[in-house]
Amino acid sequence: MFITFEGIDGSGKSTQARLLSDHLIEAGHAVVLTREPGGSPGAEQIRRLVLEGDPDRWSAETEILLFTAARRDHLERTILPALGSGKVVISDRFADSTRMYQGLSRGDLRATVDRLHDMMIGCEPDLTFIIDMDPAEGLSRARARNGSEERFEDFGEDLQCRMRAGFLALAKEFSHRCHVIDGARCARAVAADVAAIADAEFA
Ligand code: ADP
Ligand code: TYD
Repeated sequence: MFITFEGIDGSGKSTQARLLSDHLIEAGHAVVLTREPGGSPGAEQIRRLVLEGDPDRWSAETEILLFTAARRDHLERTILPALGSGKVVISDRFADSTRMYQGLSRGDLRATVDRLHDMMIGCEPDLTFIIDMDPAEGLSRARARNGSEERFEDFGEDLQCRMRAGFLALAKEFSHRCHVIDGARCARAVAADVAAIADAEFA
């Protein structure tokens, strides 16, 4: 079972991915918890290239190549081996993030993202949680972390608003695997919804 968490910055994906991992381990599953960009040594190196520096450091087209290169390495070295040995893989972001961030942020490049995805990745999660929340609240949560990986947060609230709408549209497009979860509640309440949906998938 390949499970992903998606949504705007600061919506609570990492928190929920960790809580679901704890829940599934407690239920007896072997779980690999991973993230994008990153999740393998090579992809973590690419992560630094794409998340640090000026917002205009890379064009959207160059980013599509960099994120897809990182994803290919993550897939080859972490995700596929774990799935092959019967583990549950939970990834904090995956290809839907490229569809949204690179596909929508600077013009409509969704078709380019999808073509490269088909050529180089060619797989989708079994289950995707889209953690939905107000972009202003998400941004203030994300900025409170005070990190250095702020290239996309620095694109500002307008982009986060378009991303939110984009993720909700994506949930309709891939309705067989996507579940929209209201992230504007305490972490435990959000986690209970996520766990109930995941448990139903395993039943
Ligand atoms: P994301 O991975 O989507 O950016 P995080 O899980 O890192 O989000 O959460 C962003 C910040 O908000 C963190 O400081 C985290 O502790 C906090 N946070 C996460 N979930 C909640 C919640 N349900 N309510 C309030 N704060 C939260
Ligand atoms: P992440 O560490 O999940 O940030 P956050 O915790 O703030 O949500 O992801 C870092 C940033 O990378 C985030 O702003 C979204 C961006 N991103 C893309 O633009 N394209 C991608 O394909 C991925 C995986 C992430």
